[in-house]
Amino acid sequence: MKLLVVGGGGREHAIIKKLRENPDVSEIYALPGNGGISADAVCIPEIGAKDLDGIVNFAKSHGIDFAVVAPDDPLALGCVDRLHAAGIPCFGPDAKAARIESSKVFAKNLMRKYGIPTADYNVFTNPEAALAYLETAKFPIVLKADGLALGKGVLIAQSLQEARGAVRTLMQDRVFGAAGDEIVVEEFLTGPEVSVLAFTDGKTIAPMVSSMDHKRVGDGDTGLNTGGMGTVAPNPCYTPEIAETCMRTIFLPTLDAMREEGCPFKGCLYFGLMLTPDGPKVIEYNCRFGDPETQVVLPLLKTDLLTIMQAVENETLSGIAVEWSDACAACVILASGGYPEHYETGKPIEFTEPFPSNVTCYHAGDKLQDGRLVTSGGRVLGLTAVAPTLKEALRGAYKAADAVAFEGKYLRRDIGARALRAGMN
Ligand code: AMP
Ligand code: GLY
Repeated sequence: MKLLVVGGGGREHAIIKKLRENPDVSEIYALPGNGGISADAVCIPEIGAKDLDGIVNFAKSHGIDFAVVAPDDPLALGCVDRLHAAGIPCFGPDAKAARIESSKVFAKNLMRKYGIPTADYNVFTNPEAALAYLETAKFPIVLKADGLALGKGVLIAQSLQEARGAVRTLMQDRVFGAAGDEIVVEEFLTGPEVSVLAFTDGKTIAPMVSSMDHKRVGDGDTGLNTGGMGTVAPNPCYTPEIAETCMRTIFLPTLDAMREEGCPFKGCLYFGLMLTPDGPKVIEYNCRFGDPETQVVLPLLKTDLLTIMQAVENETLSGIAVEWSDACAACVILASGGYPEHYETGKPIEFTEPFPSNVTCYHAGDKLQDGRLVTSGGRVLGLTAVAPTLKEALRGAYKAADAVAFEGKYLRRDIGARALRAGMN
């Protein structure tokens, strides 16, 4: 079988490595892919993830049997709709279902309508109305741009003054463009955060192993928000009792709600949850695999990934037992110094010693230049180790991280520390 994967980061590398385990897979094309991914797939750097015409034409001309659309932008733009129209089976939601991520207003209104627990909220399209509401609001308060904003469209305001500034940033300065024309202003929640990715064909849901992201750039969860500086799985806060509550109050009701609204969700649905004193609540939905959650979750998957993805597409997921290893995984991201703000690229990457068999290096932001790998993005590599305990997995991931060198290499040194404190060994 010939497969196509849209995207070119660490998440896509993890998906590709897992798909390759199926002996029926003869070829995988990555559009655009990246330098390191080219060891595992044929990369087409000329076709970017948002180039829907390029993607569909490529799929048709190369006889692609199955496509996986991984990033949010092409999903929101209707890449899956276009591939389906061209007769190509694929994994991922159509544009209508992808609104669960691409419009926070859609997601919040869905949750309110169907009684799915989430932070209380108001929607504003007019900055004056937002400012008037904030005069009497409780702080801290959370302001979110409606549309996709590279994970940066969420501002937490500690005071009225900060909240006024956030309205200015989102709605008046339009720092995130049209994404901020409508905003959600919501209650500030507290509690541990858990990421749960789930396979769903619109009717059946198979949650994956839970995970914990580390979104802030600095140790101790300080500094700016990033795409994620590291992950561990499973998440020790996510007990079987909590998983059962989430299935009953969040996961199944979300599937039912999407069907009811005429946009059944097929693909990977990502639940960003907060375990509040009042029970688990949804912080956000994503319509795709998380990055770098995928780099700790998929290594623990025992069932063949392509078989699951085909079952999602064919709406036969109920016939598949999705099985997981009970090991632990840890992923440490190596970033370019300065990320998530200004950083330099083009730095040669050196691997000073071979990785042991329980370690995988996922390439996120690099390219081949004159036959050698150089940095090309903010997040450059993700080192994942799998081991019987989280402590061992972390030791393996950090040892591997220290065996890679490039100028300006930056990493957090406390990935997994919170999970260890929460009682995982
Ligand atoms: P998001 O991009 O929606 O995942 O938000 C980024 C981060 O902001 C989340 O991971 C949370 O840590 C935080 N956040 C978002 N919404 C809330 C909320 N209602 N209360 C507290 N923190 C929040
Ligand atoms: N790691 C968070 C995300 O993928 O949205």
